[in-house]
Amino acid sequence: MHLETFIPAFLFFAALGLILPVWLSNVSMAGRMSPEELAKGAAEAEAAKAEPSVFEQIGGAAAVDAAVDIFYRRVLADAYVNRFFEGVDMEKQAAKQKAFLTMVMGGPHNYTGKDMREGHKHLIKMGLNDSHFDHILMHLRATLAELKVPDHLIQTIISVAESTRDDVLNR
Ligand code: HEM
Repeated sequence: MHLETFIPAFLFFAALGLILPVWLSNVSMAGRMSPEELAKGAAEAEAAKAEPSVFEQIGGAAAVDAAVDIFYRRVLADAYVNRFFEGVDMEKQAAKQKAFLTMVMGGPHNYTGKDMREGHKHLIKMGLNDSHFDHILMHLRATLAELKVPDHLIQTIISVAESTRDDVLNR
């Protein structure tokens, strides 16, 4: 082979030798991962970055227990809303009180919008409306402030509670 043809041929195969392995490994990586796997990987990376829930940030179940006491003491002392709780067994209600607070703090709970509608339906017949809902939010805010929950977390919790308004008021 002449030198004039050998050099370009050498350069061509040398370049191919560098490019081909990289290209092949990319093709086989992409081939090995289904779109679902790619999406799952992205979701996992996102979850790893995600902040702990408000529930975790304020101290989890222990914080909820403390909040339940203060919250219901306030609600039952408020003549504007306490009639809705008349005849409600507050002993049995303890689990539901926890559920209420866990729910608005973004902790684990099993309630759906439908449950919220069912759970409060009878109160609508008793006249439950926006103004009562506002009172409950006010007591929730005051409870969290008393527990020294940081303002930005109080804001988050109040917006979660606010998002249940239409379900609680059955509209
Ligand atoms: C911030 C919005 C609210 C949320 C997230 C919420 C959440 C809950 C939950 C999870 C339950 C238990 C449901 C069940 O399993 O039966 C419940 C029950 C109850 N809620 Fe609410 N609630 C809200 C607003 C209100 C308001 C505004 C009132 C009245 C002023 C109220 C009064 C009651 C009463 C009296 C019960 C007990 C019903 C019974 O057992 O007879 N709630 N609530």
